[in-house]
Amino acid sequence: MQGAMTPAQFIAGLPKAELHMHIEGSIEAPLFMKLARRNQVAIRWETEAELLAAYSFRDLQAFLDLYYDGCRVLIHAQDYYEVTREYLQRAHADGVMHAEMFLGPQGHTLRGIALATVLEGVLGAMDDARTQDGITSGLILVAQRHRPEAEALELLQQAMPWRERLLGFGLGGAEVGHPPSKFAEFFRRCRAERFHVVAHAGEEGPAEYVRESIELLQVERVDHGNACLQDPALVRLLAERQIPLTVCPLSNLKLNVVKSLPEHPLKKMLDAGLRVTVNSDDPSYFGGYVNDNYEQCQAALGLTRSELVTLARNSVLAAFVQPQRRLAMLAAIDAYQDRADDWA
Ligand code: HPA
Ligand code: ZN
Repeated sequence: MQGAMTPAQFIAGLPKAELHMHIEGSIEAPLFMKLARRNQVAIRWETEAELLAAYSFRDLQAFLDLYYDGCRVLIHAQDYYEVTREYLQRAHADGVMHAEMFLGPQGHTLRGIALATVLEGVLGAMDDARTQDGITSGLILVAQRHRPEAEALELLQQAMPWRERLLGFGLGGAEVGHPPSKFAEFFRRCRAERFHVVAHAGEEGPAEYVRESIELLQVERVDHGNACLQDPALVRLLAERQIPLTVCPLSNLKLNVVKSLPEHPLKKMLDAGLRVTVNSDDPSYFGGYVNDNYEQCQAALGLTRSELVTLARNSVLAAFVQPQRRLAMLAAIDAYQDRADDWA
């Protein structure tokens, strides 16, 4: 490469994995309007601009209200295909070699959409993204934590015909008042079936929920995990065991988990030796894809080139992939580092 590059250019070419994004949170406004028209679903907004103006959230619940409502535009397998394919195209353009995506079936099945319809579209898009762009991906089904555990168990049963195509299960939705312990049996069954398990914890909820996720649910990664910093012993445990945290900085900003990006704990987490990763969560709602998250954190927190590489390496180390794929991705990061010029 000729001449010094900017941090944004370095980030753009840096190979990485994305491990925390929700397919339903990646419907861009133009696709959203198109699907509403195509499926004749009544929505509150006349124009894309009006829809975008609604993307201002007091907290997680205010976001979730809009997010679950937005799921109504997804009806046919083709709709699920288009939203998934669009996300994977954008991720590929961001240097994402491997993406692990969340999907919340209850937001669809409870409206009468068959799980088979949803998965036909999503899995079809994942297959095409791999053959057309070379990006690999995995699917994690998330149970809504404000619903009873029995419904999560039902979800596990319904998903069994696709077990070979699924990476695992997670927990999402309204956190406060719905502790991980509510889903102990669900997670036990998921683990018994040899699925990977993750859970959202410590986004709005306390450090105790992060601890419960690890000790009781035995999750392999914690989604968000910000609140762990309230408990030094927990931070030591996460660091010792190198349990990955899938942090979502722009999401945290939009949902008022942090007041501003300069106050975001990402740098503190890196300094504490945590295996922290950067992700977009719900990119169409929170104002950016994974590289926007890297870039804005770099600028706000003064992250160094070597810290950016650590974040990318962490994403690969935390991915649920076979050893061969992991080594190939780590080698791609090493090769890029050797090739890329220092930034100015
Ligand atoms: N937290 C919990 N549930 C979610 C989120 C989130 O940030 N995004 C989509 N579902
Ligand atoms: Zn999330």
